[in-house]
Amino acid sequence: MISRAHILFTSIAIASIGAALWLAPCAAAQNSGFRNAPASAAEMKNPYKSASVAAAGKKLYALNCAQCHGSNLQGIGPAPSLDRAPVKNAKPGELFWFITKGKLESGMPSWANLPQQQRWQIVTFLESRGNTKAEAK
Ligand code: HEC
Repeated sequence: MISRAHILFTSIAIASIGAALWLAPCAAAQNSGFRNAPASAAEMKNPYKSASVAAAGKKLYALNCAQCHGSNLQGIGPAPSLDRAPVKNAKPGELFWFITKGKLESGMPSWANLPQQQRWQIVTFLESRGNTKAEAK
């Protein structure tokens, strides 16, 4: 026999599933930070942060990135300036993630072959360029 309580319980259960399905896309949208970086990337903490690391990152940037992004981060041709709000406001982990992955189809190489430490050093250099938000993190 189906009790009134049972019917009530079932309808609450159905309503919650409906709400979960309805809310899911919103939650996903909130996770997409810089370049749709996953939340796990945003949570990564930069283990290398100091003035000397930023200086090392600057050298690595000159070596690996400046030919496309410009020696002053100004951007050249299809390679965008890295001195703009989206990059400045990106979390260190998101930058690390994007640099590691690259975007081959639009001309940004993957830097997965660069040692992790060097990738973080470059991130520290990018942050040292007036990214007050990232410095506070
Ligand atoms: C061969 C040229 C080239 C080199 C070398 C290169 N990039 Fe890029 N990079 C690009 C291009 C082109 C894009 C734009 C890709 C896109 O928007 O899909 C890009 C995009 C980016 C972005 C995203 C910018 C944004 O506003 O979304 C970051 C961050 C970045 N590069 C960092 C680096 C770093 C750090 C290095 C050095 C380790 C580097 N790139 C080396 C060509 C290059």
